Amino acid sequence: MYEKSLVIVKPDGVQRSLVGTVLSRFEAAGLKIHAMKFQTVPAEQSKKHYSEHVEKAFYPTVEEYITSGPVLVFVLGGHNAIKKIRTMVGATEPASALPGTIRGDFAHQAYPAPGEPDVEPIRNLIHASATPDEAANEISIWFSEDELVEYSRDIDNQLSLKN
Ligand code: CDP
Ligand code: MG
Repeated sequence: MYEKSLVIVKPDGVQRSLVGTVLSRFEAAGLKIHAMKFQTVPAEQSKKHYSEHVEKAFYPTVEEYITSGPVLVFVLGGHNAIKKIRTMVGATEPASALPGTIRGDFAHQAYPAPGEPDVEPIRNLIHASATPDEAANEISIWFSEDELVEYSRDIDNQLSLKN
């Protein structure tokens, strides 16, 4: 099924000049760009985006992280795109993310001194929607309907993909 997903290159990805590298992986995998914006994230937007985490103890560190510098926010579409993108992104913790995934290949996570608690936030370079409900909600948080660009590509027609 054709799906759309919301992806964010987080501040560490922008700071480390990995925006193009990340985007080119998705383009090479056939995913289609529907919308894109480069911006800093107001605290209110962070609270909306991370509404499922906002009450958790680690949330203040996540807000500090996501608001610390500009991010690239975009919507990608494709066949089973939500799961495909999550697979390409890899596990939440960089140390557990497999080689070949974006987090596994590029994310750098600080680690605690022996006997100390885990270091938060988990700096993992990229966000991607986890489920269809989350994707629909996140796309509506970051983009208005008229910012989503619909178009066809030759490759989609050749593969009989519909959007
Ligand atoms: O991003 P993902 O969906 O893989 O993970 P999540 O469990 O939905 O958490 C959202 C984000 O919060 C993570 O990507 C981390 O940046 C951060 N986080 C954290 O700093 N500490 C945790 N214990 C859990 C998540
Ligand atoms: Mg999540």
